[in-house]
Amino acid sequence: METILSAENIDRSYMVGSTGLNVLKDVSLTVYEGETVSIMGESGSGKSTLLHVLGGLDTPKSGKVLFRGRDVYRMSSVRRARFRAENVGFVFQSFHLLPELDIVENVALPSMAKRTGKRTAVERAKQLLDEVGLGDRMKHRPQELSGGEQQRVAIARALMNEPDVIFADEPTGNLDSKTGNKVLHYLFQLVGARRHTLVLVTHSEEVASRCSRELFLKDGVLIDQRLVK
Ligand SMILES: Nc1ncnc2c1ncn2[C@@H]1O[C@H](COP(=O)(O)OP(=O)(O)O)[C@@H](O)[C@H]1O
Ligand SMILES: [Mg+2]
Repeated sequence: METILSAENIDRSYMVGSTGLNVLKDVSLTVYEGETVSIMGESGSGKSTLLHVLGGLDTPKSGKVLFRGRDVYRMSSVRRARFRAENVGFVFQSFHLLPELDIVENVALPSMAKRTGKRTAVERAKQLLDEVGLGDRMKHRPQELSGGEQQRVAIARALMNEPDVIFADEPTGNLDSKTGNKVLHYLFQLVGARRHTLVLVTHSEEVASRCSRELFLKDGVLIDQRLVK
């Protein structure tokens, strides 16, 4: 299996008052192409921080993140922003859609960073919305949709630029379990069909068990790696 993403000896700390809080402690991991990896751990264990560091959103104090061998934090911030737009997609717990845009425009938005032509972008956005079961809601704005539907829009948006890796941070954390399962169904279906790599933070053992590998964080330390399939 080809390595797509690796982290080497990541340390990340926050200054709280005059003392440093070590949130990630010497974290190393490898993600292989086409894998679905879950990250579990108690609240405050550093899961979101790790996801942000892996996705090029948060510079670690020390250590390296390599994406297809490229050192993400040695890029200039402009290059790194471009790298993110082209290579990774994020889905957050709260959907972060823009209220003034309809859902086609929301999904198509990342294509601006790639300078895809507008018509191509709109067609692709509609295709993705179809695939998350929202083909009949294209003209709607986010606030006219339920939470689960909004998260399906966010999934479509994350896939817009055909990223290599999708990062999802507790994507069903704000949803009831039935709605959450439906959202996950679409997420896994789209990721699987396109052989994207998925790194998913979750509190749910059941959700983690859908992934091909489970990682655990405890107080900022990666403690266990268990193969599921
Ligand atoms: N901007 C910040 N400033 C200070 N502390 C932070 C900041 N962001 C996160 N933390 C702290 O870092 C720790 C890990 O946070 P986080 O990665 O969000 O954990 P998780 O996602 O596992 O709940 C927590 O103790 C949290 O309070
Ligand atoms: Mg978190």
